[in-house]
Amino acid sequence: MEVITKIDEMRTRVLSVKDRKRSIGFVPTMGALHNGHLSLMRRAREENDELVVSIYLNPTQFDKNDDFENYPRQLDKDIEIIRNENADAVFTPCTEEMYPDGFCTHVTQDKLTDALCGRVRPGHFNGVTTIVTKLFNIIEPDRAYFGQKDYQQCAVIKRLVTDMNMDVDIQVCPTVREEDGLAFSSRNKRLNPEERQNALCIYGSLLKAGDMFASDIRETKEIIEEMISIIKKTKHTKIDYISIVNANTLEDLSSINGKALVAVAIWIGNTRLIDNIILE
Ligand code: PAF
Repeated sequence: MEVITKIDEMRTRVLSVKDRKRSIGFVPTMGALHNGHLSLMRRAREENDELVVSIYLNPTQFDKNDDFENYPRQLDKDIEIIRNENADAVFTPCTEEMYPDGFCTHVTQDKLTDALCGRVRPGHFNGVTTIVTKLFNIIEPDRAYFGQKDYQQCAVIKRLVTDMNMDVDIQVCPTVREEDGLAFSSRNKRLNPEERQNALCIYGSLLKAGDMFASDIRETKEIIEEMISIIKKTKHTKIDYISIVNANTLEDLSSINGKALVAVAIWIGNTRLIDNIILE
């Protein structure tokens, strides 16, 4: 496996892979890899000739400096994990490489970024669309893999690729959960044992929404109220948002009569976690 830190070297490798008519499966990450990332890498490994993984903790998508500072970092361990998944290359550029002096072009998107996390994390999705555009331009993947846990990110990136005529197929893979239901997330590494236990209220509230939907309750207000009460019963939690939206447009729904996304962002102590389920 090649460990590449320079854009020029990555491009040279990509050119030679393309010359040999080999397909590229790409898994972009910010490191602190977990089982969710492993599932993306395994899918990409299966479906493509080459597997390329990037590790780049992108500063421009963090709306809070302390979130960026405290984001878990474990580069050497991550490279070993990726090597074990039989990847062909890992791209780990530094920030001078990705945002050199004079950098002043950004990719922005309306509408889908106005909802959910976009509403509470100003600038976050502009950081994502900009870095993903750059990574796609450098790596030229045939397919790129993202997790459903970041549902809004997946929707935004699918729209980006459509609107900008990018020739890459976006694959959304199911959320991977721990045995007790907590979705894998790099930020879980920041939870202390009590917070880890408290975090179970997140999936608990989503399961409740699923149960209510299964018993034919369609009014979102009623479902959200139940979810709020589950979170509020759990110590040291704060609700960032609990929303039920149209799964395509991400617009708020008053009642569910098509494919709906139940999405939550909850603070567990000082750690903000997101999760979601689809109801249809
Ligand atoms: O999902 C992530 O880890 C990041 O948002 C991504 C897609 C790697 C862009 O920095």
